[in-house]
Amino acid sequence: MTNGNEWWRSAVIYQIYPRSFSDGMGDDGLGDLAGITERLPALVELGVDAVWLSPFYTSPQKDAGYDVADYCDVDPIFGTLADFDAMEKRVHELGLRLIVDLVPNHTSDQHRWFQEALASAEGSQERARYMFRDGTGDTGELPPNNWDSVFGGPAWTRTIHPDGTPGQWYLHLFDTSQPDLDWENPWVREQFRDILRFWLDRGVDGFRVDVAHGLIKAAGLPDYTPPASGGSMGGGIVGLEPEIVANAELDTPTPPYWAQERVHEIYRDWHSVLEEYDGERVLCAEAWVEPLAKLARWVRPDEMQQAFNFSYLETPWEAPAMRKVIDLSLEAFTSVGAPSTWVLSNHDVVRHASRLALTAENPQGHGIGPKSPGKPVRELGLRRARAATALMLALPGSAYLYQGEELGLPEVIDLPDESRQDPTWFRTNGERYGRDGCRVPIPWEAEAPSYGFGPTGKSWLPQPADWEPYARDAQRGVAGSTLEMYRLALAIRTQHDLGMGGAEWLPGYGDDVVAFRNGGVTVIANTGEAVVELPIGQVLLASEPLGDGILPGDTTVWLRS
Ligand code: BGC
Repeated sequence: MTNGNEWWRSAVIYQIYPRSFSDGMGDDGLGDLAGITERLPALVELGVDAVWLSPFYTSPQKDAGYDVADYCDVDPIFGTLADFDAMEKRVHELGLRLIVDLVPNHTSDQHRWFQEALASAEGSQERARYMFRDGTGDTGELPPNNWDSVFGGPAWTRTIHPDGTPGQWYLHLFDTSQPDLDWENPWVREQFRDILRFWLDRGVDGFRVDVAHGLIKAAGLPDYTPPASGGSMGGGIVGLEPEIVANAELDTPTPPYWAQERVHEIYRDWHSVLEEYDGERVLCAEAWVEPLAKLARWVRPDEMQQAFNFSYLETPWEAPAMRKVIDLSLEAFTSVGAPSTWVLSNHDVVRHASRLALTAENPQGHGIGPKSPGKPVRELGLRRARAATALMLALPGSAYLYQGEELGLPEVIDLPDESRQDPTWFRTNGERYGRDGCRVPIPWEAEAPSYGFGPTGKSWLPQPADWEPYARDAQRGVAGSTLEMYRLALAIRTQHDLGMGGAEWLPGYGDDVVAFRNGGVTVIANTGEAVVELPIGQVLLASEPLGDGILPGDTTVWLRS
């Protein structure tokens, strides 16, 4: 049931990564639900419309909570269901919306369903919940096929019988501790309808659906060798870089584990579950699918409401590429009546304040560390990040922000090896650093222990010693700070209703410039080094100080049209 408002079409949605947001329980240097509840007013002050929480469910935390052992409870490290209810109440009192993460592709190996499967006979109903298969080779000693895990290494692990003899293999597209469910099994579908209702009944406004392109695998699980460039963590259809795939190229090769056509019947089913509820509940797909026209299938009118625009996220800071991806995005999403989304950072990618200044190729999910080539210059990265954000927040549609980007946080590159926790790091023997560098607990107060993250001074990943200037309280009320630039941008975005507007290209600015008009606002982004002459107009927002009538390089300005 919708009442016609459709808040999600233009919403700015702030991603909270619970373990790194705020340690309210003050126990172990890990963020939690109490910490979120306490800090929500800061997000209202920032001016966002909704929050999305990464998983806080019962989990052994082998993949930071994306390995769920109980979908209907809160892990004690984050609090209790009562803490969740208190947080949900506060979110809504403050006029925000609440989206939670749903992880349907796989469970934790500690989930009761998987433990029962392991304890049951081959061919049993319990085993049919997951993807168990006999091995190949003379004695089943080889995996059922050649698929690799997204985190590195084989996508199959062999089970061991209680008497120590080897048994069947099970599929895990991610870590060994994350067995894939078998979505061909109606029992699995029924469980997830119940899980959706459990959280909808508790008042959530929607779900961000993890690995929403992966649930259905091609019949027969055929071998597949990805093209050399296809190293993306989410396992894009093909490597997304450097070229954005044109919408017309719908025939890009599809691996047998991603973007299978029948996955859509699941989302149609969920759409109808959400329709049982009032209040415009939403589904947002985390689907690494190219081209955008194919991704748009996830947001057809009877499926999900939104899909993350990773093509946009992966576009280099170069005006021609930016113009192209914006065009392709608006064309693809508009063709199915959905809003485009825009995103620059999340918990799986190098923070854009660092990524946009990398000088060497860095496949998504590999991360950057002390030995990475092409490390970014911090000042340049921040300058580009501010310009890129100012461009993004002027685009029509819905935008996602990742906690800490409003502070201009860079990726933490020099984490000590022994502190790293991403399974990618372990599964590749340290060859890929993984995603810990964007997950370091965020700084609230410049002078407090752990920068105010929690009262104990502890933090589950070490915070850099030079983060005082990034702390929220060091930027609050300081004109020109990154925090104040975000606040101003969000306020103007609301005032001019930019999210519901359009983008009309303005020609004549040269190759390095992205220039468009959205209603009453003219947006000019200079991705090059040479200065650009500005038209006469009242400056509403500038990502850097402007010269007299001049737009410097790596700077975005909003003018009153
Ligand atoms: C999540 C990752 C997670 C993976 C497996 C992703 O797409 O965003 O953080 O590791 O799914 O659940």
